[in-house]
Amino acid sequence: MFDLIASDLRLKGYSVQKDALPVQLISDLLNALKAKPPGVLKKAGIGRAHGQQSNAEIRRDEIAWIERTDEGAAEQWLEFSAQLQQYLNRTLMLGLFSFESHFAHYAAGAFYKTHVDAFRGQANRVLSVVLYLNLEWGPADGGEMVLYSDQNPQQILETIQPLGGTLVVFLSEDFPHEVLPAKRDRYSIAGWYRVNTSSTQHIDPPA
Ligand code: OGA
Ligand code: MN
Repeated sequence: MFDLIASDLRLKGYSVQKDALPVQLISDLLNALKAKPPGVLKKAGIGRAHGQQSNAEIRRDEIAWIERTDEGAAEQWLEFSAQLQQYLNRTLMLGLFSFESHFAHYAAGAFYKTHVDAFRGQANRVLSVVLYLNLEWGPADGGEMVLYSDQNPQQILETIQPLGGTLVVFLSEDFPHEVLPAKRDRYSIAGWYRVNTSSTQHIDPPA
């Protein structure tokens, strides 16, 4: 599968893989997310990219960052992401240096309006990954992720059902995307590989 992802990235800049991880792991990740004590999931922020628009107009998900010290399913997710990183570095010379990811929960009605995950020449996020955790999801449940063309932002490249086990990988700077309103609880992990943009003045990402 890593091979399919690498060739998709080379040809079109994104890849959608169904059943990318064992159902057991998806179910364990979902349980780990649902087991978070109340208050651990926090309203997600949007940085400085949206001028005066309020956070809640742009996105309504809640998130919990996955830590390097997490155990069990989250640890297996980090191992998977490290293997993918190593494979893509070897085959595509992407120079992926570090990885960060968070669980996300979209309650019924929640969405994330069209955005890019990184701005050209600025951020050091280069590759985005999303893994879906709902073991059942159908077209009536909404919550699709829509990927748009960078050249023509009206053009839909792909509409992706957030069905458990589906993994989406895309170049962070190149694809505006959005999450349509979910009609029921929608669970996922979103992650980003970064390149190292440290200089002697500035360590980024931090150790
Ligand atoms: C994000 C994002 C997509 C999704 O968190 O930046 O675009 O389908 N998520 O959850
Ligand atoms: Mn995004």
